[in-house]
Amino acid sequence: MRLTRRALLGTGALAGVAACTSTPPAAPKTTAFNPGDWASVRAQFALDPAYGQFAAFVLAPAPAPVREAIIKHRNALDADPEYTPPGGQDPDQAVRDAAARYLGIRAEPRDIALTDSTTMGLGLLYSGIRLRPGQDVLTTEHDFLATHEGLRLLAERTGAKVRRVRLYDDPAKASADRMVSAIKEGLGPRTRVVAITWVHSSTGVRLPVRAIADMLAEANKGRDEHDRALLCVDGVHGFGAMADGVTDLGCDFLASGTHKWLFGPRGTGIVWGRAWEAVAPIIPSFSRAAFAAWQSGGSPDASTAELVTPGGYKAFEHRWAMPQAFAFMTAIGKDRVQRRTQELATRLKSGLRELPHVTLATPESQELSAGLVCCSISGMQPLEAVNRLHTQKVIASVTPYHEPLLRFGTSIVTTPEQVDQAIKAVQGLR
Ligand SMILES: Cc1ncc(COP(=O)(O)O)c(C=O)c1O
Repeated sequence: MRLTRRALLGTGALAGVAACTSTPPAAPKTTAFNPGDWASVRAQFALDPAYGQFAAFVLAPAPAPVREAIIKHRNALDADPEYTPPGGQDPDQAVRDAAARYLGIRAEPRDIALTDSTTMGLGLLYSGIRLRPGQDVLTTEHDFLATHEGLRLLAERTGAKVRRVRLYDDPAKASADRMVSAIKEGLGPRTRVVAITWVHSSTGVRLPVRAIADMLAEANKGRDEHDRALLCVDGVHGFGAMADGVTDLGCDFLASGTHKWLFGPRGTGIVWGRAWEAVAPIIPSFSRAAFAAWQSGGSPDASTAELVTPGGYKAFEHRWAMPQAFAFMTAIGKDRVQRRTQELATRLKSGLRELPHVTLATPESQELSAGLVCCSISGMQPLEAVNRLHTQKVIASVTPYHEPLLRFGTSIVTTPEQVDQAIKAVQGLR
């Protein structure tokens, strides 16, 4: 089969090929961006300034440079369906390069799979992980559907046992030592996968991922490579909010959407990994290696992040705008973003703690929390609280768990004044 230029888009085979001939239309004008000024950062978003935006991470709005990139690529694709971004580089490679820079030292572009969401990334991992007879999986009681269901399906397919441990009874009193010990005690001699979540969306608890990784490194001493327990992390509520790179986290796989706290294009995500040989591809890849093997009647060699990246045509205008999201956050500074997120969360927790009808679920400690602040309101369902807060121009959300909580997310799009406004509005819920 002769590959059309269109078919080559996702294959990496366009690297080095001359750029398209069509000129993308000019991007719309926006406010000048001063990354050192929080007002200017907020001005890059099209959010309604009349509202305190404490659910911005849910279906994340994109800042101006990301929106402009999306529009530019979309218009160019509409004008010329064979368009590829100027520069001659394989556009997916440009995305991997930007993601690797953002993920910090030791993150190599070749170790990054591109996905549509956290859920897709976890699905690829937990569907593709190669388990040997007798190997099992350990997770926790606190993870999101994407992890629990991904593992249930894995168990159904392979017969592997999946065990859950409880990391805390009262999330507000969670302790790093106890969380690490609970996982250590849950480990079996043949545990191959330890599936955890960086920041629990049910409670706002942030896990000591590095300490868990260090504990596992000890436990893995003396194990054969194919028996090593692999630490797999749903990173979505840490990624873009916390400054840790993959070396800081020390995990084996980090799956995250880039459309929540990173404020990247919707329908985009990544999986970084350092043990891709342990994962079989599930969806056919459109990588150059996959095409080459298929055209010659063979199959690709060892598993790689590129081969695990699902093929098929994508919303390319979104994928190709991912570098702008990484660049936006990097311009502000990952440390500054984390500091701002946590300062605002601490301010919110301090105010809510004073209210007698509020019970905080999220720990006070910045070591054990990120930007999520979860709480319950005495005598009121969380959804009613959300609706009433909305009338006070405060946008919050409800956790999608068996025991739902009222949830706020402080971020680069919220201000100290809006935090105070939210506290006042919650006070009014009495
Ligand atoms: C912990 C956690 N993981 C994954 C997701 C889903 O993320 P995505 O939309 O990127 O699949 C959510 C939902 O918001 C979540 O709370």
